[in-house]
Amino acid sequence: MFSSIAKKQIVAVTGLALIGFIIAHLAGNLFIYGGPDVFNAYAEELAHFRPALYVVEYALLAVFIIHIWVTALLVLENIKARGGLRRYAVDKPVGNRSLATRLMPYSGTYILLFVLWHLLDFTFIDHDGPRSYIAGKSYGLYGVVVNSFADPAHSFLYIVAMCFLGLHLAHGAQSCAQTFGFNHPKYTPAIKKFSRYFAVLIVIAYSSIPLYVLFIMGTRT
Ligand code: HEM
Repeated sequence: MFSSIAKKQIVAVTGLALIGFIIAHLAGNLFIYGGPDVFNAYAEELAHFRPALYVVEYALLAVFIIHIWVTALLVLENIKARGGLRRYAVDKPVGNRSLATRLMPYSGTYILLFVLWHLLDFTFIDHDGPRSYIAGKSYGLYGVVVNSFADPAHSFLYIVAMCFLGLHLAHGAQSCAQTFGFNHPKYTPAIKKFSRYFAVLIVIAYSSIPLYVLFIMGTRT
């Protein structure tokens, strides 16, 4: 139905929308450093925007599904154009492709699995249930997050997801620019550099939360 260029543009636009969510979600999550009252007040403030927030969440879900679906179509198209899976794997010149580029299908799959797990972990759980309790008192959503990250295996899987997210962003952000024709001898290296710094910043900022719970809060209690 769509040409390859149009499909790449759809992947790029939906990718940009997802990057917007990732930045906004990070900004909200950093309220955790303010303690239980600040973090829970932020979560309750957001909840006040329902039912409008449902519209945003369904739109986000649609964008996420379109991003994955159209990417899968592009991969299938590439495989067909190269005459099958075996030729596809052999033909692709590996030497000049960065690690982030080669890992795109794996980082993408891990992020998808992570998001499904993450929703069960934090969204579709009773925010005042047993996992919200710290030292016999319920701390709401703050308690759920802290109790999750107090488990080193849980934190580890989150940090691996953040690293994959960083790799995915490092390639995705600069390939977005290329898709829209920003190909310039002077600016392309600068865009690539910016994408890498941005990705590293996202990994560090997100990972700081489980690390803070594990190593700083853990030593206080
Ligand atoms: C340390 C890292 C993270 C923390 C502490 C965190 C925390 C949270 C919390 C507490 C919620 C539930 C909000 C509620 O029900 O009111 C949530 C929801 C969600 N998170 Fe995360 N998150 C993290 C990383 C990520 C990443 C990397 C992604 C995307 C790749 C992501 C995607 C989502 C989505 C899609 C939702 C559901 C939509 C929403 O309720 O806003 N999260 N997260």
